[in-house]
Amino acid sequence: MKKFPEGFLWGSAMSAPQTEGHGSKNGKSPSTWDYWFQTNPEKFNQNQGPENTSNMYETYADDCLRMKEIGLNSIRTSIAWTRLLPDGKTLNPEAVAFYRDYFQKMKDSGVEPIMNLFHFDMPMWLMEKGGWEVRESVEAFAFYAKTAFEQFGDIVTKWTTFNEPIVHVECGYLYGFHYPAVVDFKKAVQVGYNTLMAHVRAVEEFRKVLPNGEIGIILNISPAYSRSNSPEDERAKEASDLLNSNSFLDPAVHGKLPDALIQLVKENQLTPETQPEDKELMKKNTVDFIGLNYYQPRRVQAPENPAVPAIMPEDLYVPYDWPEKKINPYRGWEIYPEALYDVAMMMKENYNNIPWYVSENGMGVAEEERFMKEDGMIEDDYRIEFMQEHLDYLHKGIEEGSNCFGYHTWTFVDCWSWLNGYRNRYGFYRVDLENQFERTMKKSGLWYKELSKNNGY
Ligand code: NOJ
Repeated sequence: MKKFPEGFLWGSAMSAPQTEGHGSKNGKSPSTWDYWFQTNPEKFNQNQGPENTSNMYETYADDCLRMKEIGLNSIRTSIAWTRLLPDGKTLNPEAVAFYRDYFQKMKDSGVEPIMNLFHFDMPMWLMEKGGWEVRESVEAFAFYAKTAFEQFGDIVTKWTTFNEPIVHVECGYLYGFHYPAVVDFKKAVQVGYNTLMAHVRAVEEFRKVLPNGEIGIILNISPAYSRSNSPEDERAKEASDLLNSNSFLDPAVHGKLPDALIQLVKENQLTPETQPEDKELMKKNTVDFIGLNYYQPRRVQAPENPAVPAIMPEDLYVPYDWPEKKINPYRGWEIYPEALYDVAMMMKENYNNIPWYVSENGMGVAEEERFMKEDGMIEDDYRIEFMQEHLDYLHKGIEEGSNCFGYHTWTFVDCWSWLNGYRNRYGFYRVDLENQFERTMKKSGLWYKELSKNNGY
């Protein structure tokens, strides 16, 4: 039997905008997602917008019991900035009451909450001033973070600042998937830098308000594997890692940006505006733990005719099709569990063996109703196999000394996923969109319960 360390966190991750619903009610102001859906609904799969996501604003009490039912001992979700502080300054009492009761009910069910502050949901009032492009956002975020720590720090002691911060950089400022859908490498670097400083300032506030708590950041890790060992392909791999995971991981753990990243940005005339105190702030405000979301690796090679200086990341690295690729047939993403071992070793060797956990891992499936049995249960053996394969490699990394303290799946109940709406299902519970978001446990929920009970498999 494969046993995991004592006290291992078995849980799931989710986020406020993807699960709460009540997007424009109870005092909440619009985020960029609410605005984008109102103005461009055709961009969203089957016109499914952020207004009515899984309805947890109303069902949270029962959902906390469901968490217990499948053996989760922890959950990561987020607070909606636009619900807590609708205009950025004034506290919304309904939001405070809702979140306090929600977090307390989790704890009453034996579920440790890990609370995240930003999950792609930029307030529209701040976006109108320039969003992460402007430095003003850094202080606005620090104020929101401080408010959240003060309001909920007596219940929640484990916090994270951002979920996948590189995603709003790439999707919002390079590839047009998220609002404001700008395509501008230099702006993207500035947005990334300001986001990083917002993280750093939130950590600084945290130490003042909750000196005994723990704070981290959640990063999406897609380790790059190069096509060959040629110096060109190796450089492409390095650029991919530097511009993705390392840009936040290094400052969060080591208190500074990698020299190679500063150099790369400079060579390509992308250096962002900074402030004199930033280096010192970064150095002082490192984190206690790291969360890593892992789904698939990047297979990269050197581009053939790159623009110099680069005008897009594709001038530095491009994807290549690895012939041995194993694919999730229901979603199209590569399945490569071995990477979790590589990640575990990287954290041990390059990041001081800091405590870390798998903060998301999971298998999305389109048209999952095809696997429904007569009693209404979805038999998702493919998901069980996916989790077990990944846990095999995670376990190997832990056995070899990597300091991993948990494994969270994406996700607990099927949830709304940005432009894809409800196309790809990931949950332990199926959510019935025709029937008021009614939940039905999938077979994987039963499996996870056993896993958590036995602390292994
Ligand atoms: C990562 C993100 O954190 C989450 O918002 C998203 O829905 C899942 N991955 C699934 O793609």
